Amino acid sequence: MKGAETLSAAEQARTKVQKPKFAKTEKTPVEPVDPDALIEVQHLTKRYGDLVVLDDISEKVYPGEKVAIIGPSGGGKSTFLRCLNVLEDPTDGYVFFEGNNLCDLKVDINLQRRRMGMVFQQFNLFNNMNVLDNITLAPIHVAMQDIRRARFRQVFHKKGDSEKQNTAPEVEIRSKKQVKEEAEARAMQLLSRIGLADKAKVYPSTLSGGQRQRIAIVRALAMNPKVMLFDEPTSALDPEMVGEVLALIKELADEGMTMVIVTHEMGFAREVATRVLFMAGGKIAEQGPPAQIFGAPQNERLREFLSKVL
Ligand SMILES: Nc1ncnc2c1ncn2[C@@H]1O[C@H](COP(=O)(O)OP(=O)(O)OP(=O)(O)O)[C@@H](O)[C@H]1O
Ligand SMILES: [Mg+2]
Repeated sequence: MKGAETLSAAEQARTKVQKPKFAKTEKTPVEPVDPDALIEVQHLTKRYGDLVVLDDISEKVYPGEKVAIIGPSGGGKSTFLRCLNVLEDPTDGYVFFEGNNLCDLKVDINLQRRRMGMVFQQFNLFNNMNVLDNITLAPIHVAMQDIRRARFRQVFHKKGDSEKQNTAPEVEIRSKKQVKEEAEARAMQLLSRIGLADKAKVYPSTLSGGQRQRIAIVRALAMNPKVMLFDEPTSALDPEMVGEVLALIKELADEGMTMVIVTHEMGFAREVATRVLFMAGGKIAEQGPPAQIFGAPQNERLREFLSKVL
């Protein structure tokens, strides 16, 4: 116990994560069952005290899918999305991303999260940094981290290392200056794409909500994610700016980006989603293609919900 008492806060947090709270039971296999799924959730449960927010959800997202999550306030949509990249620790169950169990302590969660772009309602840009620095911060950081790891491997390479999960990808060793230049070139490309190249050196506070949200999306794209997770990306925007953000998301969808998007924009869900999940009371109460969900809803709660929002 003495050892535990002297742990630093960071170590305690890590110890907490390492606690084997995911009890092995018959209903929770520890392997992904579907090798084709990009994300696979098994028996995901999230409780806050006595409140069950996610109730034993099993679901998969396949490459190229555009999954819209709709449902009443408090139904668990944000919690579900946050559990997908383990921003929220599941109380029970597993989340697999590209076959890696994100709830397993052997898996480097930061390495996995790089490939999951997340965009929130409230932009979450760093207000003390200009636009370009906002976009390049993470790519520069991870590139330098990979280079440090690669250098370390060069020096201490042992046979069998490659069998370890999540060893950083092979990278070319470059100087920080080169890394920064590459990241900035890519950021400028992305900014040009959304017509905001001239805003590279300004601070977020000088931009409109729509511009800030498009920059938040581009910042996530700068990491070359395999999937984008959006939590109500337009609900904090003035109505006239909703269109420009949805247009960008639709463009990404059309290019084949896999996405999971929590939205109250039913028209958008109907047009862009390949599958709609209706979440209520911590469960996926109904799901299906948009035509079925909006045209022929079966679940009573879904019908009631649609009668209010459509
Ligand atoms: N950190 C927390 N502590 C306690 N309860 C929480 C916490 N986060 C969420 N909840 C509760 O979990 C439930 C689901 O919340 P969640 O934010 O996932 O809902 P939602 O479907 O995204 O709702 P909305 O449409 O309003 O965004 C709510 O009852 C909420 O109060
Ligand atoms: Mg929410």
